[in-house]
Amino acid sequence: MSKNPVSRRQFLSYTLTGVGGFMAAGILMPMVRFAVDPVLKTEAGGDYHATKLKVSDLTDQPQKIDFTYEQVDAWYKSNVTQTAWVYKDSKGDIVALSPICKHLGCTVNWNANKDHPNQFYCPCHGGRYEKNGKNVPGTPPAKPLDTYPTKVKDGYLYLGKPEANVFVK
Ligand code: FES
Repeated sequence: MSKNPVSRRQFLSYTLTGVGGFMAAGILMPMVRFAVDPVLKTEAGGDYHATKLKVSDLTDQPQKIDFTYEQVDAWYKSNVTQTAWVYKDSKGDIVALSPICKHLGCTVNWNANKDHPNQFYCPCHGGRYEKNGKNVPGTPPAKPLDTYPTKVKDGYLYLGKPEANVFVK
């Protein structure tokens, strides 16, 4: 009988199993992490995106601004550009409206129809909105334009995710 409690064959078997397991873990862990990690990350809900507009440049006339940010959808990253119509109301509050028509999703423009001045006009089916985004009765849209939540940081305007209009009561 051998003095060694572990035979040469067993030692080799244990060693190969250990090294093989270690190597397999090293290969599989990054793959598992790549597949699962983006799904587990919380959505950046409520995030605000920087615009290039200084709040001091806002007037009482709606102005169109575009802003771009990086969007991460699971493991796919892309740059998204959005548009807002922004102005200061009579109380000094910043109003930022989505340009997406609530009828069928065309893009509205301010003062675009000379027959209906000082309104947002949708060229697709003649939808109209008042300055605060309220839909004009008798035109196709059934709801007011959405608004972006706003934030000011270092003098610049930041916009959140569009939500139901908070300026139309
Ligand atoms: S999409 Fe704007 S009025 Fe129809």
